[in-house]
Amino acid sequence: TKQKLWGGRFTGKTDPLMHAFNQSLKYDQRMHAADIRGSIAYAKSLTLVGILTKEEEVKIMNGLTLVGKEWQDGVFQVQADDEDIHTANERRLSELIGPLGGKLHTGRSRNDQVATDMRLWLLDQVQDIEESVKGLLHVMVDRADKEKDILLPGYTHLQRGQPIRWSHLLLSHATSFRYDLERLQQLIPRISVLPLGSGALAGNPFAVDREYLARELGFASIAENSMWGVGDRDFIVEFLMWSSLTMTHISRMAEDLIIYSTAEFGFVTLSDAYSTGSSIMPQKKNPDSLELLRGKSGRIFGNMAGFLMTLKGLPSTYNKDLQEDKEPLFDSVDNVSASLKIAEGVIATLDVHADKMRKALTMDVLATDLADYLVRKGIPFRETHHVSGRAVALAESRKCQLDELTLADYKSLNENFSDDIHAVFNFEASVERRESIGGTSKKMVERQVAVLRQVLSK
Ligand code: ARG
Repeated sequence: TKQKLWGGRFTGKTDPLMHAFNQSLKYDQRMHAADIRGSIAYAKSLTLVGILTKEEEVKIMNGLTLVGKEWQDGVFQVQADDEDIHTANERRLSELIGPLGGKLHTGRSRNDQVATDMRLWLLDQVQDIEESVKGLLHVMVDRADKEKDILLPGYTHLQRGQPIRWSHLLLSHATSFRYDLERLQQLIPRISVLPLGSGALAGNPFAVDREYLARELGFASIAENSMWGVGDRDFIVEFLMWSSLTMTHISRMAEDLIIYSTAEFGFVTLSDAYSTGSSIMPQKKNPDSLELLRGKSGRIFGNMAGFLMTLKGLPSTYNKDLQEDKEPLFDSVDNVSASLKIAEGVIATLDVHADKMRKALTMDVLATDLADYLVRKGIPFRETHHVSGRAVALAESRKCQLDELTLADYKSLNENFSDDIHAVFNFEASVERRESIGGTSKKMVERQVAVLRQVLSK
């Protein structure tokens, strides 16, 4: 007769609804490989302290390897009573090698086991995600490098502000991703802390060598407090926070591109590969990829807020509430991974309409440059700002552009205007003037490309 791993002290049966409610196997089976890895390392450590003979260790290792292979080949037979990935693997191990399987859990608890599995699993995922962030950055930097000569209005408040290079806009988003990459790399050491050997909460009574376990499993450090080891999920919170911030950046970039892809702007066209049509309006090509990138950010943020809510107020060490760490984590990993790849594809295939961007450059975006012109003649900026504003008003009243006002018009506003004023009405000259670090001049855009390439080469 089947018996639950913890069934000894029980006489009554679990309510079937409770069984389903409690069962995490349906989602935590994706950690099967991490669970097997952790168990193999633990078996080896038990041999080192004489709990297992070498022969027993080999049997257990072979059994675990077989169980792992069953998962990999998709032939693992889940039993109705399997509660989670840990109980399922142990149950199967004992089926394969007999009662010896029951020695594996000596001194171990599912509490240190699950914390170990989660960390191992997330460390793998974070490596992939790091590559995806780099992939996105690569595409953005390459585009920015190639398209430096395209100019468009830069906006504040979504109102035309000053001329910028398209590359400068692209690199403003890339700069956010640069720091996302850095933040991701910085949280890895805090994921890479070994809980195994913490036991249920008080530590391991069989003197297993945790430094050995850390080396075997590739952990950078060891949980120095067993209660913390089984109860801590900050590494998950940090990843959920990271995901939220990164998705916020993706969402803001998506929003720019959604606006720019409207017929009213017409600055960019999304490739067909990342667009969808309307079921009723035949003319439509909708930026669904970008809208989903924007939309996903909400749920990713929800995963973070929800799990923090779960953690808040938990007593020390392990509580079953902690099983609720998995679905938000898995969901955020899946959706952030997908979002990064979609964002990369969208940017790589985007059609940029330099002519439309150029047409949106109206002379009024040079009003700051007009004020700066007088500054260079020694007039205080506050005064020149006012003069330039009056020029804008005059042009507006005449329904003409700033460069269509006559020199006499300008002189009537301020006697320091002279012939050389026409040099102001030049968008290239305007962007080239922004040649201090961080500006939109060609040299400074090239500098940004170099800086980001340097970051990527590390
Ligand atoms: N499935 C559990 C989880 O994900 C494993 C740990 C169970 N530990 C326990 N003491 N019931 O958190």
